[in-house]
Amino acid sequence: MRARASFSEILGALGNFGGSRKFLGLSEILRAIYGIVVMANIRHDYSSIQEGFSMFFKNKIVVISGAGSGIGRATAIQLAQEGATIIASDIHRDNLASTAQKISEAGGRCQTYMVDSTDRDAVFDLANTVISEHGQADIVINNAGIANNARIDELDLDTFKRVMDVDFWGVVHGTQAYIPHMIARDSGHIVNISSIFGWIGVPKQAAYNSAKFAVFGFTEAVRQDMAGSRVKVSCVHPGGIDTPIARNAILPQGQDSDADREEMATRFKDMVHSTPAQAAETIVRGIKKGKARILIGRDAVMVDVIRRLFPVNYGRILKFPVE
Ligand SMILES: NC(=O)c1ccc[n+]([C@@H]2O[C@H](COP(=O)([O-])OP(=O)(O)OC[C@H]3O[C@@H](n4cnc5c(N)ncnc54)[C@H](O)[C@@H]3O)[C@@H](O)[C@H]2O)c1
Repeated sequence: MRARASFSEILGALGNFGGSRKFLGLSEILRAIYGIVVMANIRHDYSSIQEGFSMFFKNKIVVISGAGSGIGRATAIQLAQEGATIIASDIHRDNLASTAQKISEAGGRCQTYMVDSTDRDAVFDLANTVISEHGQADIVINNAGIANNARIDELDLDTFKRVMDVDFWGVVHGTQAYIPHMIARDSGHIVNISSIFGWIGVPKQAAYNSAKFAVFGFTEAVRQDMAGSRVKVSCVHPGGIDTPIARNAILPQGQDSDADREEMATRFKDMVHSTPAQAAETIVRGIKKGKARILIGRDAVMVDVIRRLFPVNYGRILKFPVE
């Protein structure tokens, strides 16, 4: 039950405490108490909203691809700490096991599956397993991804296809495997990881740019498909996040020595603005708020502004290194 008092009444009553008179009249004391009760109620309402927020993921089934490292792992851990059951998939068994161990140490629940997100049948099999075992899939985070660094004349078709397979088709498979179930329940949330490279073209990123622009376009279209339903769809655009993605990038032959990788990883580290834990925090907050776009890091915010102000000449403003 909410008490009611006008703002000026409350201020008026409280203001009397600071006045020059030594004693308050009974009606003033009552009004002051009334004001304090109202404020306490507001505080109570606010803390119950916060409590509601902290209960948001309790007993939710959250599926995350690429959960063995970086953003996927950090998001899995945070969501498990907030009470979700995590269905974690990846292609690296040891990394996946280590994510599960961290979740278990934090008192959370996690099941792991070795699933290659480019394998449509395997992704659909996992969806069937999750839905038959748990009865539902509440949130699906299509996160698995790989990087590539090759100028267009050095970019071979197999590499281009591999990047599209993981970074784009993996997202499509993960969306299509779960969305019929979400539509049937009129409930659920698809969260697809694009990038700031889903907005702007960058030298040596033709394959990655193609995949991430495609994820953005695909996710936007799916969001329009779901308009009017309770199925939410979010596209995440991280700026630079300090993960091993650059070190593990597919590089052109002759540029993929340990020294090359080390140099690339060092250059990448100099550019990143956020940790995986910060990225996870932003994703978790964005999911709670049901945001259509989730931007991670001030670099993402800055790039978003620049690409809107300079839709053609953003490259000059951002001063991409040209070799
Ligand atoms: N790190 C950044 O700066 C950054 C910026 C923008 C977008 N992103 C995107 O965020 C996502 C996560 O990247 P990250 O930085 O945490 O990288 P990461 O390398 O730390 O993690 C990626 C995970 O995906 C897994 N993976 C790769 N191919 C897979 C496949 N075929 N099937 C299943 N799992 C597979 C890897 O094993 C790894 O565990 C990616 O989609 C990436 O493109 C990252």
